[in-house]
Amino acid sequence: RIAYVNGQYVPHALAQVHIEDRGYQFADGVYEVCLVVDGKYWDLDGHLARLKRSLDELQIAMPMSENALRVVMDNVRKRNHLPSAMIYIQVTRGVAPRNHIFPVGLKPSLVMTVKPFDLDQSDAKAAKGIRVITQPDIRWGRTDIKSTGLLANAMAKHAASEVGAGEALLIRDGHITECSSSNAWIIDKDGVLITHPKSHEILSGITRETAKACAQELQLNVVERPFTLDEVKAASEMFLTSASSVVMPVIGVDSFKIGDGTPGPITKRLRESYKARAR
Ligand code: PDD
Repeated sequence: RIAYVNGQYVPHALAQVHIEDRGYQFADGVYEVCLVVDGKYWDLDGHLARLKRSLDELQIAMPMSENALRVVMDNVRKRNHLPSAMIYIQVTRGVAPRNHIFPVGLKPSLVMTVKPFDLDQSDAKAAKGIRVITQPDIRWGRTDIKSTGLLANAMAKHAASEVGAGEALLIRDGHITECSSSNAWIIDKDGVLITHPKSHEILSGITRETAKACAQELQLNVVERPFTLDEVKAASEMFLTSASSVVMPVIGVDSFKIGDGTPGPITKRLRESYKARAR
């Protein structure tokens, strides 16, 4: 496998970054995960716009123009002979002697890696749906920034994996914010789709935005407001959205079944409509 590191395409096993990279010491960096299926990028404009926004919020410069980023992404993908892939892009503030204060004039570090993606496998998983567990949302107060500081997310998802669940549903101040690496949605008894509004408490998912547009095309009602675990338990359907899971049905939360314990019909339609739109 080939990775991109600061201007060079290098064998993955030999790719290196400096020990005083601020990404390593402070998680002082941001990332994106983009999906490409059969050579077509899904929602790429949105991912690059969010990368820019995350960097702006942290006063880190874009490492290169958006168009140059697109070229490098495609080079990495092609050098790895992957028509379908998840592309990981990470930008950190750069290398400097350790100091909490942002050093001025640093050159940001840019790393890209890819891994294979198989839409058929993803479809097979979605056909079964996944179970999730609840976890307290102990993350920092700016989860709208797609920062590499993911320890709380990793802890929550690890706890889920330990009991064989696919995701952790995060609860803060009595309401669901999102999941450890995806946005959470429920569908109530009236067929209304509910998801947490954009705020500093969630990552505003690019897949979430496109799913909203798909829902509107299907003439479904979407309401953006916080919802509670009781509403989750009473929901007729539940699903998650993210670049890697697209639209993923949830069939159980902790020891509770969602609906009849199988992927819901509206969720299935939404996933199909998403794929048709992205392709
Ligand atoms: N996760 N919420 C969190 C906390 C996330 O980490 C992600 C993305 C999302 C969904 O965002 P999007 O639809 O733009 O992928 C929501 C990526 C895929 C990851 O960390 O691997």
